[in-house]
Amino acid sequence: MKILSVVGTRPNFIKIAALISEFKKHNISNILVHTGQHYDKKMSKLFFDDLGLPKPDINLGIRSGEYSEQINKVIAKLDEVIAGENPNLVVVVGDVNSTLAGALVAKQRRIKVAHVEAGLRSFDLDMPEEINRMLTDAISDFLFTTEESGNRNLLNEGITKDKIFFVGNVMIDTLLKHREKASKSKILQNLRLKKKQYCVLTLHRPSNVDNKKDFENIISMLEEIQQKIKVIFSVHPRTRKNIQAFNLNQKIKSMKNLILTEPLGYLDFLWLMSNSNFVLTDSGGIQEETTVLGVPCITLRSNTERPVTIKQGSNLLVSTNKEKVIQKAMQITDGKIKINKKIPELWDGKAAERIVKTLLQN
Ligand code: UD1
Ligand code: UDP
Repeated sequence: MKILSVVGTRPNFIKIAALISEFKKHNISNILVHTGQHYDKKMSKLFFDDLGLPKPDINLGIRSGEYSEQINKVIAKLDEVIAGENPNLVVVVGDVNSTLAGALVAKQRRIKVAHVEAGLRSFDLDMPEEINRMLTDAISDFLFTTEESGNRNLLNEGITKDKIFFVGNVMIDTLLKHREKASKSKILQNLRLKKKQYCVLTLHRPSNVDNKKDFENIISMLEEIQQKIKVIFSVHPRTRKNIQAFNLNQKIKSMKNLILTEPLGYLDFLWLMSNSNFVLTDSGGIQEETTVLGVPCITLRSNTERPVTIKQGSNLLVSTNKEKVIQKAMQITDGKIKINKKIPELWDGKAAERIVKTLLQN
């Protein structure tokens, strides 16, 4: 079997890591294509190093652009690669532009597509990721799901049962594999942090950071939260760009307990999250990781495509209502909240193993 895997962004690298080590175990030939959607050292190379990923066989170097422009560029360049390599199967992960573009090109070339992390739905078509998820799932041959809601969503959309494989979560495979190694991280010493005496913040959803008013609303909540607890803010490049564009630098600098960092490497960030009092985020993957770590997660969104993290895990879907977020943050720091601590079904570190087994049998 000859597989070609397509990745492009930070969360993609984390997800593919679990699959690549499983491909190796079975001597499956895999061509790793990096679209170049993320290209800063701290959004790309650092993850290859931390996760021991092989250097991509091909980097398309497409870099940033508007939605259609970025997808178009991947399609044009990837098509040549896929035509030349002629793999038996193309693997795409997650819900980013590189995911959809990879699936489209493969399908057009009559090559089978496996979508890892299929079926998740926020039911919010204002999110580019929701469009990517729906379209990728509609044309994939193997739909590997992480939670029950994914199976239901796919069946409701008319996908036949024989294409759906409930296998668990490759992002959690990677987390469990690297937990021990992450505990050697010096990030707490470097940032002079004491366990449980800080919270972690990440933000990058366009709905939170692409509009000045929305971004200012979040900054205004931080003003209050950082008076109670130190906030470590790992700043995504989209967010960094908008801090400049909206002139929010001064305001941010004035908050003594709000500490900004560059995007952190996987191991440092995992250790930082693991020891935090709670996490504030609009990330998809972080909702899942905090569930496994048992760390409370305040999700700064009004919906989630990962409902199991709320029903069973430690995720609290709070929205971006300032009063509600502050209230939850205070309840957590005062120890007045009890969070769920159940690990979702099949989030056991063996998702990649199940995926490869399925591929070899079909
Ligand atoms: C993308 C995904 C999002 C995912 C996120 C993970 C889509 C539509 N969005 O969002 O689903 O959650 O990655 O982090 O695919 N930039 C840099 N350096 C980089 C990468 C980006 O400076 O290495 C800046 C550029 O100004 C760019 C902006 O960040 O315009 C946004 O990058 P882009 O890849 O379009 O979307 P993300 O917000 O990263
Ligand atoms: N992450 C990281 N360093 C950071 C911020 C996040 O390693 O500074 C990891 C995080 O642990 C998770 C992944 O990046 O594994 C999530 O990526 P992101 O939030 O960018 O994308 P999403 O999951 O929302 O698509």
